[in-house]
Amino acid sequence: MRAGPRHVACVMDGNGRWAQRRSLPRTAGHRAAEAAVIDVIEAARAAGVEWLSLYAFSTENWNRPGAEVEFLMRLVRRVVRKHAPLLLARGIRCRFLGVSDPRIPRALAQDFEDAALLTAENRGMTLTVAFDHGGRRDIVEAARSLILSGTPADEVTERLFADHLPFPDTPDVDLVVRTSGEQRISNFMLWQVAYAEWVFPEVLWPDFRAPDFLACLHTYRRRDRRFGGVAARTNGDPS
Ligand code: IPE
Ligand code: IPE
Ligand code: MG
Repeated sequence: MRAGPRHVACVMDGNGRWAQRRSLPRTAGHRAAEAAVIDVIEAARAAGVEWLSLYAFSTENWNRPGAEVEFLMRLVRRVVRKHAPLLLARGIRCRFLGVSDPRIPRALAQDFEDAALLTAENRGMTLTVAFDHGGRRDIVEAARSLILSGTPADEVTERLFADHLPFPDTPDVDLVVRTSGEQRISNFMLWQVAYAEWVFPEVLWPDFRAPDFLACLHTYRRRDRRFGGVAARTNGDPS
């Protein structure tokens, strides 16, 4: 079995369906998601995951009803304020990917900045919360930044391009976990997931807990990652 994964990214999906199944408003599902988030952060850290990225709000999620969006803004603010001291105590460095839309309440953006600053010196796991994130937007921004830097076209390499993405120190994603059975990428860290392994547990995000997360790590460790080469369990000799 392989070691790792070093970088796990989660598409935290299924909050609305969790609530619907209980005849509750969708917002109740978002509220119930908090416990899963905390459990997964703790489980990832304890399992030695170095980078954990959580997809909390996409650039497309602005298309949701205004009341749901407002609820999410308030909820995320409360969760970040409440748990920032825990992240600090656990040695977790926390940062926020995206966060560029002017519709984001100023107070929430400030709380993101405060939590990032508070935990900036931590050297344990890096937790990246993707909020108002879109993979395509990041790629377009990187292209703009490259052009503005005056780099000649024939000097643009994949490495140089990646250096213009937000948080360029982020390693490639090894494993993406998308809960709720949906099997799509939904514009998540497009550049970084190029060679990720994917797992799609059926469980809805509010019910997702440490054992579910550890099961995903176990699945990953049994995968044969080939990166376009040949299977590790053969000797690669075609004869
Ligand atoms: C994920 O759950 C949370 C966010 C996208 C903010 P959903 O709200 O997408 O839940 P479903 O997919 O409708 O069940
Ligand atoms: C993706 O989930 C975004 C987050 C989990 C934050 P969605 O539920 O918004 O994705 P689609 O609309 O089903 O693709
Ligand atoms: Mg969804």
